[in-house]
Amino acid sequence: MSFKFSDENLAEIEALKKRYPSPKALTLPCLWMVEYQEGFISLDAIDEIAKHTDTPPMEVYRVATFYTMFHLEPQKKMNVQVCKTLSCKLCGSDEILEHLKEKDVNIVHVECLGSCGTAPVMQIEDINYENLTTEKVDEVLKGLK
Ligand code: FES
Repeated sequence: MSFKFSDENLAEIEALKKRYPSPKALTLPCLWMVEYQEGFISLDAIDEIAKHTDTPPMEVYRVATFYTMFHLEPQKKMNVQVCKTLSCKLCGSDEILEHLKEKDVNIVHVECLGSCGTAPVMQIEDINYENLTTEKVDEVLKGLK
């Protein structure tokens, strides 16, 4: 399966090239573009990003696999990232995790989501859901179906 950036994303890449000191700095923005355009990052997309960023494909792959928010395969279920770091742990993330295990979602344990003051936190797509309770989790999931 070949990958091509949309015309809109190609225009965005050209605009960003003027803002960044080197094309390699576009690696993360390009990965986000692919993630939003396709829903996951294929090896063909990694090759395409490598061309646009003058970066070896393996380096792009390493960046894509380092971050938990990028998906390297099509997603069959909704991904729910649940923070497992201290503040969330102390405020009840274990209960949230147990509750989510009963749902038809893909649970991803992640480190701090940068919202410790409103723990426990989960993230779906780019949105943080904070001060979670099991009831709030149900409300969020119901609203997203
Ligand atoms: S510890 Fe969970 S958001 Fe920071």
